[in-house]
Amino acid sequence: MSTLPTPHRLPAGMVGMGMIFDETYRPFFEQAHADGLYGRAFGDVDVPLNSVATRTGQRAERYRDAATGRIHPFQSHAGDGAVERMLGDDIAFVCVATPDDRHFDACKQVLEAGKHLLVEKPSVLSLDELDELTALARAKGVLAKVVYHKLLDPDHMKLRTLVHDGVLNHVNSGYCTLLEPKQISGDQFAEWITGRNPGTYVAVHYVKLIDFTFGGRLKSVSATGQRGLVGQADGPTWDSVQLRIVYEHADGREACHDVHTSWVTPDNFPGYVEQEVQFRFDDGIWNGHSRKRGVEVTVEGRTPISMKNSVNNHYNAEVLEPWGQRTQYGYGVRVIERFVREVAYTEFGGPEADRGRRLEAMQSLDYNDVSADRNTVAIVQAMEAILFRHAAGEPDCVVRVNDENGGLVLYRPGSTEFEVLYEGGV
Ligand SMILES: NC(=O)c1ccc[n+]([C@@H]2O[C@H](COP(=O)([O-])OP(=O)(O)OC[C@H]3O[C@@H](n4cnc5c(N)ncnc54)[C@H](O)[C@@H]3O)[C@@H](O)[C@H]2O)c1
Repeated sequence: MSTLPTPHRLPAGMVGMGMIFDETYRPFFEQAHADGLYGRAFGDVDVPLNSVATRTGQRAERYRDAATGRIHPFQSHAGDGAVERMLGDDIAFVCVATPDDRHFDACKQVLEAGKHLLVEKPSVLSLDELDELTALARAKGVLAKVVYHKLLDPDHMKLRTLVHDGVLNHVNSGYCTLLEPKQISGDQFAEWITGRNPGTYVAVHYVKLIDFTFGGRLKSVSATGQRGLVGQADGPTWDSVQLRIVYEHADGREACHDVHTSWVTPDNFPGYVEQEVQFRFDDGIWNGHSRKRGVEVTVEGRTPISMKNSVNNHYNAEVLEPWGQRTQYGYGVRVIERFVREVAYTEFGGPEADRGRRLEAMQSLDYNDVSADRNTVAIVQAMEAILFRHAAGEPDCVVRVNDENGGLVLYRPGSTEFEVLYEGGV
C-alpha cells in the first residue's frame, strides 16, 4: 500500500475551448491528468479539468468523449449563464480563452467568485476594465494573470537576458511583423470577426515583449491599416494593421517600434505564422526570425496546406519521446504550467498564516500579473480608438500618453479638439 500523502487539489475551470485551448491548454491538462504537478515548495497536486463553459458545448463534449482516459470527465456548460453555472462547480482557478472582446465579462465573474484567473492575451481592451479586474483580484485575495507566451520563447528570454545583463544597451528602434493566414480571419474567427482587427489579436505579443524587455515611459501610439478583404473597404473590420509606439528612456532619448500585423496572408504560405523582429541598440542589433529558425520539411500532398514547411518546434511541438511516450511541449504549454505552479505555491507553499505573503510575491511577478499589463492594454485601447476614428472617416489620429490633458488622449489632425480615453495616469 502506498504511504504517500494524499495530493493537494486544484480543480480547474475553462471558459472557451477553441484553437488556443487545443494548442496549449489541452496538452497541459492532459499532462496534469497523467502526472499531476509536483514542486518541492508545494508538494504533489492534482489538477483535474473539472468544468468548462463554452458557447455551444459541441466542441467541448466531442473532445471529452474522444479523450476519455486522457482527461478528467469534466462538466460542460453552454450558452447563456454557462460561466455562472461552471463557477458553481468545484473549482480553484479558471482559464479564460474566449474571443478578446469577451474576456472582461467572464474574468469579472471569475474574480467575483473568488477564483484565481488566467486570461489569454490581451487581458482586456480598456484601462477601465483592467482597473476593475486588478481591484477585484486584490479584494478577493486571488491571482489574476495574463498569458503572453512569447515571453517564454527561448529566443526572447535570451534577448531579455542580454538587455538585463547590459550586453545590449539602449534600444533605439525596432520592427516586428506577425502575419496570420487567411484561414484565421475567414474561417476560424468568422463568428466574431466583424469590427475586429489583427493588431489587437497579435501585435500584443510583440507589444508586451517590447514593454517587458526594454521598459521606458510610453509616450505615444499611432496606427493605420487596410480593409477590403475580410470585410468592406469602408467598413470596421481590418485586414492588416501597422502600429507605431514611442517610448522615452530615463535619459530623455526616445525609442520607436513599428509592429505590422495581418490575418490575410495566403493559406499556402510555407509557415503557420510569419514572425520576424529586428531591434537596434546603441551598441548592437538583434535579428530574430521565429519561423525560419531551423527546420524546413516538404511532404508530398501535405505541405504547405495541411502541414507547413517551416514548423515552430519551440511553441507546442507534438512529439514521440525517445522512450515511446507521445507528448506535446514548448513555451505555449510551459506558460500555463507556470501559472498553475504560482497558484499551487500560493495555496500550498507553506502555512496558511503566510498565504498573504505568498500571494503578494506571486502578484509582484510583472511578466504576467494583470496589474503590470497597463502599457499593453493602453496601447490596445489607443490603437482600437484610432482605427475606429479611421473607419469613421477620420484617419491619422495620434494618442499621447500621460500628457497635460489625461492618461490616454486622442488627438485629431487639424483639430484642437481631443478625446480623453482614460483620465488617470497610465
Ligand atoms: N497566445 C496565443 O498565441 C493565442 C493564439 C490564439 C488565440 N489566442 C487568444 O485566445 C483567445 C481565444 O482564441 P481562439 O483562437 O481559441 O478562439 P476560437 O474562436 O477558436 O475559440 C473561442 C472559444 O470561446 C468560446 N466562446 C465564445 N464566446 C463565449 C462566451 N460568451 N462564453 C463562453 N465561451 C465563449 C467558443 O465557444 C470557443 O470555444 C483569444 O483571446 C485569443 O487572442 C491566443
